[in-house]
Parts: sequence; C-alpha cells; structure tokens
Amino acid sequence: MSEHELRVSKIRDGTVIDHVEAGQALNVLAILGIDGAEGFGVSVGMNVPSDRLGRKDIVKVEDRELSQSEVDVLSLIAPEATINIVRDFEVVEKNRVTRPEGVTGVLSCPNRNCITNADEPIETRFDVVADGVRCDYCATILRSDIAEHIDV
Ligand code: CTP
Ligand code: ZN
Repeated sequence: MSEHELRVSKIRDGTVIDHVEAGQALNVLAILGIDGAEGFGVSVGMNVPSDRLGRKDIVKVEDRELSQSEVDVLSLIAPEATINIVRDFEVVEKNRVTRPEGVTGVLSCPNRNCITNADEPIETRFDVVADGVRCDYCATILRSDIAEHIDV
C-alpha cells in the first residue's frame, strides 16, 4: 500500500495485529479486554483493502504487548493474523498466529449444567476442533460466538 493510502497511522511502540479477518476487529478488542478506558492508544481499521485477503481488519494497540493466552484465543477468530511488535517505529518482531490444540482457563462454557459452571475449582478447557472449540467436560461446541465467552 503506498504512503498516501495508509489509513491508520504508524505507531511508535506497541502491537499491530494485522490480517485479521474482516468483521473481527471488535472481537479482537474484546479478547484483549480493551474498551478504550485503559488510556493507551488504540487504532482500528475495518475492511481495509489487502492483497492477500481482499479485505481485512487491523488493530493497533500502543504501549502494550500480548500474552500467549490472548494470542491463542485470537488465533481462533483470526487464523491468518500477523502479530507485529513495534519498537521506535520499527517492526522488530513478526509472528503468524498458530492454532493451539486447546485453550485452558480462557473461555467459559455456555452450558449452565457443565461442571465448570458448578462451584467447583475446575478450570475450563476447550479443544480446538474443525468447526470451533469443544468443551472437554460436556462437549458443547462454541463456533462463531467464541468472543462472547472469553473469560481472561
Ligand atoms: N506498522 C505500524 N507502525 C509502525 C510500523 C508498522 O502501524 N511503526 C504496521 C504497518 O502499517 C503494517 C504492519 O504494522 O500494517 C506490519 O508492518 P510491515 O511489516 O512494515 O508491513 P508489511 O511488510 O506490509 O507486513 P506483511 O508482510 O506482514 O503484510
Ligand atoms: Zn462445558
């Protein structure tokens, strides 16, 4: 993309989550627990033209890096995403997300009768399956609604 087409300013320090599937930017913010009240700079581009994806979303979070569990959950809704770490305006690290085998302690199970929703000291565990993620305890499958069940 040429200089005059750049829609969202470059950042000095922080994380750029690029190549997010169009339509998922707000879910990315939900996964990161960002609602704007935290005080750091957040820029969001939606339906930005992309050579590789046609259209993509992009999220830039200043002065913040991501934890592995956040990246694991992100990969579920944005499997093509690239995580760029920016320091002093330069991209110093670029990683494609990889799909984890499962996620522990980050999603809540929507099944009210699931043992993870009883008052037991049990951590949730979801396995990644072809059509979403599946609760290890009750086999409930979360599909497009993964972002609504994040518990980080
Ligand atoms: N970026 C940014 N601020 C910076 C540097 C980069 O916001 N100071 C953003 C760019 O706008 C881009 C992403 O971080 O969206 C990755 O930057 P870069 O690696 O320079 O771009 P590309 O080579 O196009 O990345 P890719 O090959 O991953 O598509
Ligand atoms: Zn369950």
